[in-house]
Amino acid sequence: MTNNLNEFLTTRKQAIEDYLFTYVQELQIPEELKSSMLYSLKAGGKRLRPVLVLALLNAYGKREKDGIPVGCAVEMIHTYSLIHDDLPCMDDDDLRRGKPTNHKVYGEATAVLAGDALLTESFRLITSQLSDDVPADQKLRIIDELVKSAGALGMVGGQFDDMEAEQKYIPLAELESIHARKTGKLLTFSVAAGAMLAGASADDIEKLREFSYHIGIAFQIRDDILDLEGSEELIGKRVGSDTANDKSTYPSLLTLSGAKEKLNEHITRAKEIVSNLELEQQLLHDLCDLIASRDH
Ligand code: IPE
Ligand code: IPE
Ligand code: MG
Ligand code: MG
Ligand code: MG
Repeated sequence: MTNNLNEFLTTRKQAIEDYLFTYVQELQIPEELKSSMLYSLKAGGKRLRPVLVLALLNAYGKREKDGIPVGCAVEMIHTYSLIHDDLPCMDDDDLRRGKPTNHKVYGEATAVLAGDALLTESFRLITSQLSDDVPADQKLRIIDELVKSAGALGMVGGQFDDMEAEQKYIPLAELESIHARKTGKLLTFSVAAGAMLAGASADDIEKLREFSYHIGIAFQIRDDILDLEGSEELIGKRVGSDTANDKSTYPSLLTLSGAKEKLNEHITRAKEIVSNLELEQQLLHDLCDLIASRDH
């Protein structure tokens, strides 16, 4: 990892977490519910989705400040998706971000509600926490993007099809569509919302959607690979969960080396797209490399 990327990740992660924890801490809500929400938020996590929002603003040379609440909104939705993904009725996992999963500590009913609360509360960050410099129609566009990315058209629909694809063979095109939605769409939201806040042109935003499509697939392929050959200590979740649930994954369809090859193809394509845009290149290229080679 380059020093610049390292410094960017460390400083932005800190700013995101400070904002996120304070925001949730100050909510006037039932204490046990708040405790359950904060438990999963504070358990750790790379904060890649909010970091991407800030990275886009940075690459366009724009002020990162308004990216923080938008980034925290997508991190809340991501954390809710993990709480629900780990439930016994879904992947049935007992370790997440290096800690017992939410339902193991708070029980299933509270875990479901903590997820629901993180999901709905996330929208208020966008409606109430952006500066007046952000016009109302832009906030609306960002909310529209978030709905499409997180809901049935995006992550939730992908999670549904992922569940349906257990214990059966599915063609690669279908697996790609699942990865693009269950994981890719929230990453696309981060990139598109960052570009919108930066005032990027419609043409740039379209190209960046294509860029994020490729990093989204690559990110989930890496996740599938880490489920097989990662270290439990580093990834903070059980390895072998996909095999235990007989999931359709890139390694299960293409073999491990075939999956690695595909991952590199998507990263190469993502970098090519960025190279043709007029923005600061290095940070986005470094993030692509991180996605390709991450060990957690
Ligand atoms: C895990 O996401 C779930 C997937 C979409 C693959 P991350 O690997 O970003 O999880 P955290 O936020 O760092 O824990
Ligand atoms: C789920 O993918 C992605 C989500 C939308 C939560 P996985 O089920 O592979 O995620 P992990 O491996 O449990 O983090
Ligand atoms: Mg899952
Ligand atoms: Mg899972
Ligand atoms: Mg996984």
